[in-house]
Amino acid sequence: MEILNFNRNMAQLALLQRIELASPLLKRLRKIFGRYLFSKFFSKYLINVKKISEDYSILMAKEVSSISNFLNQNQNILSIGGGMGGLEIIIMKRFNSSNVTFIEKNYISNKIRYGWDDKNSEGYNNLNLMQNLLSDNNIVNSRYRIIDYNSKKFPKDNFDLIISLYSLDYHYDFNIYLDYLKRSTKNNSIIIFDTIRYEYFKKIFRDVKIIQVNENTVHKSKRIACKFFR
Ligand SMILES: C[S@@+](CC[C@H](N)C(=O)[O-])C[C@H]1O[C@@H](n2cnc3c(N)ncnc32)[C@H](O)[C@@H]1O
Repeated sequence: MEILNFNRNMAQLALLQRIELASPLLKRLRKIFGRYLFSKFFSKYLINVKKISEDYSILMAKEVSSISNFLNQNQNILSIGGGMGGLEIIIMKRFNSSNVTFIEKNYISNKIRYGWDDKNSEGYNNLNLMQNLLSDNNIVNSRYRIIDYNSKKFPKDNFDLIISLYSLDYHYDFNIYLDYLKRSTKNNSIIIFDTIRYEYFKKIFRDVKIIQVNENTVHKSKRIACKFFR
């Protein structure tokens, strides 16, 4: 398995996006000193960059396995809230004729609050760093686009597969993207995301399959693969 090489800023972001990568000490410091110091300083300076790079790479390889039944050559993929893009890098390397469009946020909240975010105001990404990671890993520009969510300039496309791990409907309401997804998918496109309200999606899609039960996450959730909007 290939290990992604992070610099300190990238490792910090990966940690903020995947809080399970934090050491017990770091988690304790967050409890004692609060979210501001954690988000700004501890997550950057009190980390082992090499360990985060390795653990993140292992985690992303595992996440790819969880959706491997839905991956093919020649797919036009939309990634919503892909974080550092480790999952998509593995996919683009494995499927060299598939392309990815990322929609992500380009800012890092001062005090990151993990959980359901009614206003969808939390962001923890830096699109330049994401772009650097893609090019460091030899993914050529022509294979991906990075769209800033706040620009609202979403591409008019027909995606085959939409992937949103621990982002859409895990942290913020699926309905934010509902109209866009209806417009930018084909009849048999597949939408994969993590949610704590799996039953609700039977009202939105005709086909909803649980592909993974996430027991060890902060909020117990299910990873579902949906198709055929009602
Ligand atoms: C918990 S992280 C998960 C990152 C990645 N999917 C992973 O599994 O490692 C959630 C990500 O969603 C992004 N995000 C938040 N609101 C968003 C929105 N409206 N559209 C796209 N991305 C969003 C955040 O910036 C963050 O990178």
